[in-house]
Amino acid sequence: MPCDRRQILKGFGAVALATVAGGSSLRTRATAAPALQPRPPVSGGQIHDWHFAAAERPMRLLGPHGPESTVWTYSDTLFPVKRIRLGDTIRARLENSLGEHTAVHWHGVRVPNAMDGVPFLTQPPVMKGESFLYELTPPDPGTFFFHPHCNESGQAGRGMSGVLIVEGDQRRPVDADLLVAYKDWRLAEDGSWLPFETPEGASRAGTYGTVRAVNGVAPATHAVPAGGDIRLRILNVDSTRVIEVGIEGAEAAVIAIDGNATSPFPLETWRMAPAMRIDVLVRAPAPGKNFKVIDYFSAEPWTLGTYEAKGPARSKRPFEPAILYDAGLPRADLRNAERMSFSFSAASGSVAEAAAQWAPDDPLAKILLDGLCVRDTSFWAINKASWASGQQRQLPPPLGLLKAGQSYVFELMNATPHHHPIHLHGHTFEVLSASRLNRPRHFADTVLLQPKERIEIAFVAAPGNWMFHCHVLEHLEYGMMGYLRVA
Ligand code: C2O
Ligand code: CU
Repeated sequence: MPCDRRQILKGFGAVALATVAGGSSLRTRATAAPALQPRPPVSGGQIHDWHFAAAERPMRLLGPHGPESTVWTYSDTLFPVKRIRLGDTIRARLENSLGEHTAVHWHGVRVPNAMDGVPFLTQPPVMKGESFLYELTPPDPGTFFFHPHCNESGQAGRGMSGVLIVEGDQRRPVDADLLVAYKDWRLAEDGSWLPFETPEGASRAGTYGTVRAVNGVAPATHAVPAGGDIRLRILNVDSTRVIEVGIEGAEAAVIAIDGNATSPFPLETWRMAPAMRIDVLVRAPAPGKNFKVIDYFSAEPWTLGTYEAKGPARSKRPFEPAILYDAGLPRADLRNAERMSFSFSAASGSVAEAAAQWAPDDPLAKILLDGLCVRDTSFWAINKASWASGQQRQLPPPLGLLKAGQSYVFELMNATPHHHPIHLHGHTFEVLSASRLNRPRHFADTVLLQPKERIEIAFVAAPGNWMFHCHVLEHLEYGMMGYLRVA
């Protein structure tokens, strides 16, 4: 029988006990956790010249003997994984051969605003046949990803995304560093795409994929060194689905959240909505045994990957998950912070009414407007404003005017019965408190607002126009999106 997670947690020590027994206060765990060491300064940096050829490509997503599907990708590989070192510079040339405009948004990376990849807000849209050069030196190490920011449900839904790993956060090497990028496909049996947006989905929890996949393919079994320290970078890059990740069969600790090092705590389970990431350090079991990464949010637990321990067992060392340096992120000055509140709600006018106006026979043709890539219906709003509802062809006013360098505490309130992972571009914020889900105080770029939940985040504002939205792609397409102007 595989070992039980609760059993493992018992052996994890004082921090583990505090976590399991802790109430809903976020502060308990944060104070109990040991501090991470500061990162040594980085010196020098390499330049990476990348070519992102956004185009349609045939790929077999339903298995090697299945039908072909027409994916949209940045390269010949699905989910390209780009690795750089902290201090390196990326020069990525996007060339667009798709039939519609696109861009590259570097999710979670604290980029200069002009490199943030939001058409109409931070750059002109990159039309078919055009190109755009992104140049950025990511200031923080960690696990990030990139994706377009227009017709996102359609473009990301067809495969447009990739993983960016910025190395330089580890104090000591690991025995394996593996990627678990979760994303469903919305495919019919013949390999053709099903509509990425539906009135039922867009107005409620989102439209789910039909084929569940990890790293683009069916979940697989991987070999790992027995007794080794395995770093798993787990990303939810799905358009819609919330997963709740746990590990069966091995000791595991969360070491980073959204790429940001955190004082390690035992992974019981971690609820991850679209765009959320965690890095987990796992101690691989003895030769011949295995551990599994499992989604417990599904009706039935669903295995994302099986990891078989191979080779001679490594010498028995205690499991010490504090392998990362401190994230070294700017911290908000809470005593002098300005407070702002944001309510995430349904759009005014009933959802049923809006759904009824939607022509059901040809949804994609009807809803994909040109210009601002707006849909002609809004189901959602932030502080009662819906992103570009109706036939609007100009940018709406910002949701807030902020001062660069000033600290802010945002109160986020979910007035709906649905999950909304809220993402702020260009910043890494600290999650201070949450009314429902028990999480340690941590840095993030996306935070899951559970139904009816209230969360406080804090950050120091950086100059620019920064998108602020739910990361369920249909929710952002249908109104739950806006931007902040920081000057
Ligand atoms: Cu992944 Cu606007 O973000
Ligand atoms: Cu949402």
